[in-house]
Amino acid sequence: GDPRLQAISEAIRVIPHFPKTGIMFQDITTLLLNHKAFKDTVDIFIDRFRDMDISVVAGIEARGFMFGPSIALAIGAKFVPLRKPRKLPGEVISEAYELEYGTDCLEMHVGAVVPGERAVIIDDLVATGGTLSAATRLLERMGAEVVECACVIGLPEVKGQRRLNGKPLYILVEPREIEHCC
Ligand code: PRP
Ligand code: MG
Repeated sequence: GDPRLQAISEAIRVIPHFPKTGIMFQDITTLLLNHKAFKDTVDIFIDRFRDMDISVVAGIEARGFMFGPSIALAIGAKFVPLRKPRKLPGEVISEAYELEYGTDCLEMHVGAVVPGERAVIIDDLVATGGTLSAATRLLERMGAEVVECACVIGLPEVKGQRRLNGKPLYILVEPREIEHCC
């Protein structure tokens, strides 16, 4: 495997019982504090996507915004923010997705992509895949082709699974600690 991945994994802090009892929170803010690990993370995505003829990097609010723009700039693509409801000022399309309790929603500006564009979707973490699935539906409704979804860290829900709704799912690392919460 890639020798950079272990340091990336170790740079992600695990916080027990956040946001509630029993959850081992995977905190990527400590990855952002570590220049080498942060740069290696972004560079791995850049190297993967630079020759895939990608014109759109879509990032998911909020933590997808921390990785997506650097990738977009480096590969010569546009950056499209996919935002939580009522944040984007122009005309939008919306897609709802399931949470543990209730639903949430992502929105995208109409006209942000043109039909036929090739897109990758970036987020920090995939758990159930509901967020990335909603993001994929937004891009596809606008006529873009979603070439791949990519995350820094993948939880066991999607472990071993390298596809999401028939699309390739690219994950850098799996959690160091998740099974045994104190
Ligand atoms: C977290 C994480 C992913 C999503 C993954 O975001 O950053 O976006 O959950 O979960 P899923 O695969 O089960 O859909 P969250 O909605 O907590 O908000 P944030 O990124 O704005 O902090
Ligand atoms: Mg998120």
